[in-house]
Amino acid sequence: MANAAGLDAFKEIHETKAKTTGKKIKIGIIGTGWIAECHAENYLKMDDVEIVALADLIPGKAQAFAEKFGIEGARIYESDEALLAAEKDLDGVSICTYNCQHAPCAIHALDAGINVMLEKPFTVTLDEAIEVMRAEKRSGKILTIGFQPRMSENMRMIKKIVQSGELGKVYYIQSGGGRRRGIPTPFGTSFIEKGTGGIGAIGDIGTYSLDMLLGAVGYPKPLTVSGYTSAYFGKDPAYYPGHPEYAEKFGVDDFAAAFIRLEGDIILDFRISWAMNMDTPGDALILGTKGGLRIPSTDCWNGEFDSPLTIYKTVCGEEIEYKVPLKPTRELFFEKLRAFVDAIQTGGKPTVPSSEIVYNQAIIDGVVRSAALGKEIAIEIPEV
Ligand SMILES: NC(=O)c1ccc[n+]([C@@H]2O[C@H](COP(=O)([O-])OP(=O)(O)OC[C@H]3O[C@@H](n4cnc5c(N)ncnc54)[C@H](O)[C@@H]3O)[C@@H](O)[C@H]2O)c1
Repeated sequence: MANAAGLDAFKEIHETKAKTTGKKIKIGIIGTGWIAECHAENYLKMDDVEIVALADLIPGKAQAFAEKFGIEGARIYESDEALLAAEKDLDGVSICTYNCQHAPCAIHALDAGINVMLEKPFTVTLDEAIEVMRAEKRSGKILTIGFQPRMSENMRMIKKIVQSGELGKVYYIQSGGGRRRGIPTPFGTSFIEKGTGGIGAIGDIGTYSLDMLLGAVGYPKPLTVSGYTSAYFGKDPAYYPGHPEYAEKFGVDDFAAAFIRLEGDIILDFRISWAMNMDTPGDALILGTKGGLRIPSTDCWNGEFDSPLTIYKTVCGEEIEYKVPLKPTRELFFEKLRAFVDAIQTGGKPTVPSSEIVYNQAIIDGVVRSAALGKEIAIEIPEV
């Protein structure tokens, strides 16, 4: 039976806490689609935040969003540029547009002197990411990328294990996770069209795998990549009962694989899938000279795992394995937005900095370009 101290600890974990200077933070939301709902719901839980402006390109959509969430008094706009031109005392914006609008919206907001929470993936191409970083540098404002799995204690544990030296020198990493059937079309086709999504599984969920694994080993610079992408399921009308027309619209990848060399003599063996004829492409593995770590795959890879990590070692000549129990985890989406608001309140740093995610983006960009060329390529990252 749980004792009182145990219950207090549980309560502590599930309580949402706000660090506040007493200042009301004024937030705008750009793009009022699916994920914007999570932003609105969580900002609305914060006493020191006021959602003052909403924008969406689709006429009436932002107004309907305001009504759905009871965001009274929010001013409504039909583009990011209209919102930014009119709102002169915003503290921050959440950019919740489809991928192809991440870069222009982030650049416009930073150039307007506004702090930015940019949904993942960072951008579509590496060149776009560099342009956003240049705007970040010009502005001196906060830019943080929306990877909520970063806020998980379990995710942090992977990094702690690697950084503790428990595994020795890490030399090989295999990404895991992926979906058997999981092309995201619940609210239309913005994820699967070239002109909106820009990239497919690799940008949507591959970016989470990359963040988990690169983060654990300290985000080493990627050097070369030999990549492959395909779209056999996305382009098949039979995949979409009730919406065969989606197959015609599908213009991105639904599967990607790559062999990537990282600085520090580390190999990254990468794969990701929105759809395939397999239950899982396997667990994620981190191999070191003194130990190995297995990170379990999940049914619908979304950047988090839900069963214990396993560490493999040889101790006194015996091959042993032990589990790392899962820790209770907080409300990750709330935590990611809270960290953004706290950084604005206190002049703090972004939780997920562009200086790391640019390497994630460079790999995605490299896989796409290498796949198109059909050969290995060197990754070159322009100066910011
Ligand atoms: N962190 C997460 O867990 C998570 C989950 C789902 C989606 N996402 C990310 O969120 C982003 C949005 O996904 P979604 O499913 O909400 O897409 P969506 O298509 O439902 O919504 C995007 C909205 O942005 C609007 N928009 C585009 N450009 C605009 C502009 N310049 N100004 C104003 N509005 C603009 C569109 O009209 C659309 O309504 C994607 O990049 C996706 O990868 C993150």
